[in-house]
Amino acid sequence: MKVNVIFWSGTGNTEAMANEIVNEINLTGHEGNLIFVGDATLADVDECDVVLFGCSAMGEDELEEEFMRPFMDKANTHLSGKKVGLFGSYEWYEGGWMDIWEEEIKAAGADLIAPGVKAYDFPDDKAMKSCRDLASTAVSN
Ligand SMILES: Cc1cc2nc3c(=O)[nH]c(=O)nc-3n(C[C@H](O)[C@H](O)[C@H](O)COP(=O)(O)O)c2cc1C
Repeated sequence: MKVNVIFWSGTGNTEAMANEIVNEINLTGHEGNLIFVGDATLADVDECDVVLFGCSAMGEDELEEEFMRPFMDKANTHLSGKKVGLFGSYEWYEGGWMDIWEEEIKAAGADLIAPGVKAYDFPDDKAMKSCRDLASTAVSN
């Protein structure tokens, strides 16, 4: 299975989640690719079995506006029937940005493989385990 992990992270919290996910995918003998969203193309969405998007909560429970929001606006048109997973870190509010993002992905026609994985601030052991579980779900889909 080829899994592309496309992420944005301001202070490294979501990046730590992305690293954990990609490491787990590769440890299980599958192909996990870590791609900063600023370097991602729509081919990275199209040419994989599963795509995982990561972004911390920014704005008012929104996606980061310079890279992630514009990329998702394009990617959403490529997600019909696509297996997709979401993850990210939050801190200020209750994690509602993930609910909004899940709804957006589903409205785009994606097959959400699991509930979005949320970490409060830097991912603790439990959040890291959830990241590895998301990786396992991705490669078994
Ligand atoms: C400009 C800015 C806006 C933020 N907006 C939110 C928000 O709307 N909701 C929230 O829960 N956390 C918010 N946060 C907190 C971050 O989501 C939190 O610090 C997160 O752990 C950062 O993860 P990252 O290092 O992957 O970017 C905001 C932080 C910044 C700097």
